[in-house]
Amino acid sequence: MSDSKQVEIVELKHKTGKSSVSVSLFGATITSWKIFNTDMLWLSKKASLDGSRPIRGGIPIVFPQFGPGKLRQHGFARVSMWEHDSTTHDLQSGDCTAVFILKSNDTTRADWPHDFELQYQVQLGMTNLVTQLTCKNTGEAAFDFTALLHSYFPVSSIDEATIRGLYGLNYIDTIDENKVKTERDTLLTFKGEVDRIYKREVVTGADGRVRGNEVVFIGDGGNCDVGVKSVNFTDIVVWNPWAKKAEAMPDMEEDGWKHFVCVEAGSVSHPVKLGPGESWSAGQNLTLRILREAGEELARTSTGPRLDPLKPSGQ
Ligand code: BG6
Repeated sequence: MSDSKQVEIVELKHKTGKSSVSVSLFGATITSWKIFNTDMLWLSKKASLDGSRPIRGGIPIVFPQFGPGKLRQHGFARVSMWEHDSTTHDLQSGDCTAVFILKSNDTTRADWPHDFELQYQVQLGMTNLVTQLTCKNTGEAAFDFTALLHSYFPVSSIDEATIRGLYGLNYIDTIDENKVKTERDTLLTFKGEVDRIYKREVVTGADGRVRGNEVVFIGDGGNCDVGVKSVNFTDIVVWNPWAKKAEAMPDMEEDGWKHFVCVEAGSVSHPVKLGPGESWSAGQNLTLRILREAGEELARTSTGPRLDPLKPSGQ
């Protein structure tokens, strides 16, 4: 990892000392989230933290365009310098929250001629991380955009990686001519490149928010899962480049593709439209879920973290 001219990183530590998160002002990219000193996100050893290219790993923010298109791949938010607005601590729970801001400026307007303010809130709990993106249209004309939180989750081996919670969802298979298919596996496993846009079932409540299929779980055959609960995002992108595509990425460490899966909460299949003065917010809650055996083991050790054992995977 190059850290010669590393862009400033804001670090938050939970009051219990059990968890921490680091956010680079370059893209407001979360570069690390740790619980009990264990990495909960994958970051390539070759990731550039000096602002020279998007950060390969952690949670880059994709805005205002997902993928290739008129603008640069995945938009400019992940390669813009954000402002650190505030950090607050909740004395009772020990949680900390940092807020980052990106406002339209000459550089963003050169790419995308709209006035906006993005606010990114990162809230660290002892065993969870909540991130929320808000976009306000501060201009006089309507615009539309796509946005996504591009989370990289570590797995001990891609052969063991599983994702639950996608069963029954329709998805666009971007490596098979964008065909629309329906997920028929309760447990998604990886046997080759995967690049899919799963459309969460959209059920609009009275408040206009998206409901249904809110949590997917990522497992790697070990004793813990991470749950991704998305709020108000319409899609979940699942991606692993596999060997050949990974080889072409200069910032991918050797065999790095074997050690992560991307599960990306976003609104990408239909652009979000915002009129002048309107705001939109969406986010995700990432939660460590300790499976029964690990939970029982922890319960036996008086110094271990106090977490309730949950049902094992698959139940
Ligand atoms: C995923 C896309 O979100 O990001 C993939 O679905 C893309 O198609 C991947 O390859 C990585 O993109 P980038 O620009 O960070 O290499």
